[in-house]
Amino acid sequence: MSGKIVVLTGAGISAESGLGTFRDAGGLWAQNRIEDVATPEAFARDPARVQAFYNTRRVQAAAARPNPAHLALARLADEYDGEVVIVTQNVDALHEAAGSRGVLHMHGTLAGALCAACGHRWAAPDVMQVGETCPACHAPSARPDIVWFGEMPYHMDEIAEHLHSATIFAAIGTSGEVYPAAGFVESAAVYGARTVELNLAPSTIAAQFDEARIGPASQVVPDWVADILKP
Ligand code: OAD
Repeated sequence: MSGKIVVLTGAGISAESGLGTFRDAGGLWAQNRIEDVATPEAFARDPARVQAFYNTRRVQAAAARPNPAHLALARLADEYDGEVVIVTQNVDALHEAAGSRGVLHMHGTLAGALCAACGHRWAAPDVMQVGETCPACHAPSARPDIVWFGEMPYHMDEIAEHLHSATIFAAIGTSGEVYPAAGFVESAAVYGARTVELNLAPSTIAAQFDEARIGPASQVVPDWVADILKP
């Protein structure tokens, strides 16, 4: 088999690495209101609270290890005859830790700092302080390089091009609740991709996929990859 495979991952692929999802029972959005920690307005109002939320997540993510699902996607890119593109909504670095390269982090990364004044990016410290200065413009405007609600996700033009030339589109461990990522299946299908959802339970947009593989990512992703790589 050849052709381009575009994989979209969400929090579910990192759940078995010990990182919480957002909308499952007890998830991050059950413990924190989005409007308190994940909007530009929240950061303007209470930067200490927002920095504390992401500092905690940065520490948790640094301690996490990739699971068999991340490893299987790295194997897919190594062994598949065509191109494999990973687009992730996740802000952890577990795809990279598993060996995947060129991952498109559409919602940013915990490892990054961004200057809210000049747009300069640099590596985030483990614990980011309120009012930390930008190494480029020296404004006290450091923020996590995370795309918040109301902001434009990264790499959208490049992702659209990949979706339009995909042979297979797979969504792994994502609830289909957040756009634009939730619209990727439709874009890929319109341009002729075969679509598959891999999830612990069918997502809210499950009906839009050609195929479903239901179960924990650590099992269904390696099985799916093995099927694709089967001679
Ligand atoms: P959600 O928390 O919305 O959904 C997690 C999905 O993972 C659900 O569909 C679960 O069924 C599935 N899941 C849970 N455990 C799993 C497992 N072991 N194996 C496979 N699937 C599993 O997370 P996302 O869809 O990633 O954005 O959320 C999308 C965006 O909403 C996030 O990037 C974040 C959030 O608000 C921002 O912060 C901007």
